[in-house]
Amino acid sequence: MKSILCLILSCSLFSPVKEDKPLYKDASRPVEERVEDLLGRMTQEEKILQLNQYTLGQNTNENNIGEVTAKIPAGIGSLIYFQEDPEMRNEMQKRAMEETRLGIPILFGFDVIHGYRTVYPIPLAQACSWNTDLVQQACSMAAVEANCSGVDWTFSPMIDVARDGRWGRISEGYGEDPYTNAAFCVASVKGYQGDGLRKDNRIAACLKHYVGYGASEAGRDYVYTEISRQTLWDTYLPPYEAGVKAGVATVMSSFNDISGTPATCNSYTLDEVLKKRWNFDGFVVSDWAAVDQLISQGAAANRKEAARISINAGLDMDMVSHCYDQYLDTLINKGDVSEERLNDAVRRVLTLKFRLGLFEHPYTEVVPAEQYLLQPQSKEVAERLAEECIVLLKNEGNLLPLQDKKTLAVMGPLIDAPEELLGNWSAHGRTEEVFPIQDAIRQEFEGKANLAFHTGCPFEGNDRSGFASALETARKADVVILFMGEKRNWSGENCSRSAIELPAIQESFIQEMKKAGKPMVLVLASGRPLGLHRVEPLCDAIIEMWQPGIPGGRPVAGVLSGRVNPSGKLCVTFPRTTGQIPVYYNQRQSSRPTLGLYQDIPSAPLYEFGHGLSYTTYQYGELKLSKQTVKKEETLVAEIAVTNVGNRTGAETVHWFISDPYCRITRPKRELKHFEKLEIPAGETRIFRFEINPMRDLSFVDGEGNRFLETGEYGVIVNGQKACLTIE
Ligand code: GLC
Repeated sequence: MKSILCLILSCSLFSPVKEDKPLYKDASRPVEERVEDLLGRMTQEEKILQLNQYTLGQNTNENNIGEVTAKIPAGIGSLIYFQEDPEMRNEMQKRAMEETRLGIPILFGFDVIHGYRTVYPIPLAQACSWNTDLVQQACSMAAVEANCSGVDWTFSPMIDVARDGRWGRISEGYGEDPYTNAAFCVASVKGYQGDGLRKDNRIAACLKHYVGYGASEAGRDYVYTEISRQTLWDTYLPPYEAGVKAGVATVMSSFNDISGTPATCNSYTLDEVLKKRWNFDGFVVSDWAAVDQLISQGAAANRKEAARISINAGLDMDMVSHCYDQYLDTLINKGDVSEERLNDAVRRVLTLKFRLGLFEHPYTEVVPAEQYLLQPQSKEVAERLAEECIVLLKNEGNLLPLQDKKTLAVMGPLIDAPEELLGNWSAHGRTEEVFPIQDAIRQEFEGKANLAFHTGCPFEGNDRSGFASALETARKADVVILFMGEKRNWSGENCSRSAIELPAIQESFIQEMKKAGKPMVLVLASGRPLGLHRVEPLCDAIIEMWQPGIPGGRPVAGVLSGRVNPSGKLCVTFPRTTGQIPVYYNQRQSSRPTLGLYQDIPSAPLYEFGHGLSYTTYQYGELKLSKQTVKKEETLVAEIAVTNVGNRTGAETVHWFISDPYCRITRPKRELKHFEKLEIPAGETRIFRFEINPMRDLSFVDGEGNRFLETGEYGVIVNGQKACLTIE
């Protein structure tokens, strides 16, 4: 016994006791244990710093000129990273790892909205492809480009249901329907995060803007939103619930005031719904300086009050307003903010950092940019997605595709404006990497037609000096193709417009070209649905190409020539005029459906949600239900055969809607609950199926978020057919 004791003593007396690695640095331990160990070691000041986000690098977002923080504390929680290479990020990270007591890595975020350097079509366009797999691939590739450039976290996907095209940010989301936004939200989260954040080049996603931002009054940005609890639950929350269930890492609160309580300090949405009802274990970051902006919203008298009501409502991280790092210490010391709340917020931030593996891999490996930017496979995905987003709105007399036409007049302000095709929030996209429309037309119609190019008119203003010569050009052509629409900065943040019609100079140019008496094709590049009631009658064919990103004019040139068979369908309704707004497919019934209509224009929108033509024809068979009557817990299958009776392959999206004509809470006329896109070769038939789970697909939600399913009659609707179903 004695010898053993001596042995133990000798070891302890003569060899320095090896300082065990603190538990939080042991990657073999569960994240929860590492978080608690680290939290227990942190001072109040260190905790508070984790709840702040500043900026690093050259801030290019003109709406948010943040001061480039001269002295960034090495213990800062997060930085918005504007540089394109990882060097500056690594230098800053080295300070965090080596100059601070605990070596907590910084989380670097950035707006990777529709690509990082390979710019994909804007999200509103992506949803018109109805191809969630392709969108997931695009997000996955964007994650690689961003992560290799020093970004750990993207402020995307934006999933704000939007029904007002005057609101510029309609371009950033997936349209007017909750189910559509939910489907593309899940695809994006999976694309960015993969099936586990630790995998190579995965980045944390962020659902935004939570919640109801798309209801901004009259389409003006940053303003009040009147949202009842019923509408909150049946329209604006569903995409977020889907994203939380998909395991999203973070959420960003929105600028808007939700019926009297701004989202930034709204404990019902941030705490009651998100964290308690949905058990969200990630963290919530504010929008840009939104904590401070509670003062202008009339919710806080000063910055300290703004900090108090925000963190106590459940907002975990303050983006660049500095209210948290300026006042949390005092608020906690005075007991106005509890230690528990502080620890809860810090725990959420640390958890993500551990899950991302930042403690083990705090630095971005520096490799030549050509190894990860603009890779062939990302450009190929961008091209396909841009093709599948294009919506053929009108094709009178099958004018398109343009074959055997001798001379084409190619006109409009967009023919040589590649920068406008990037769309807003184009991250590090570069104009010189966008394929210009006129080059694409030249390439596409080389040897097939004579081409005459003429911009004809400006995007806006009164300069008609090009009209006369343009008309001469049009007169000599067989077909006139007009590329009209919007500049990239007419949509996006702080880009509201009082009218969604084309600028007067563009409409007037279209009217002038009509005098040539030639068939006219109108091609629109825009970040919103446009009001076309004056120009639609003048054009034989109309294409919405949206803002396609770096593929630029090539996809639409393929549609014009017939190389690409358009398959896009609208995810947002095109009103006839601005005055019709809001008009959307899932409106509720009127008490007098045939009355109360506009006296001056037809009350139907110009193009419905789901509208989109093809160069082939699809014949729908009879809608069949596997059962006509089911119990609540039973399932059934709806199916329909679709035959391509045309002479070329096409891809058809089938939208499945349900209706519940009578319910204790009135419901929309119809609600999208499933969609599927399949390629169908000419002459072949595909069966489209919708496996209906009544509790999931037929139920509704009340103003407290309780989902309910009533017995009674329901409808299953597809392509204008309706089959009745009884739930007993
Ligand atoms: C902006 C936007 C938000 C963006 C954030 C960071 O104001 O509202 O969408 O992610 O600030 O740039």
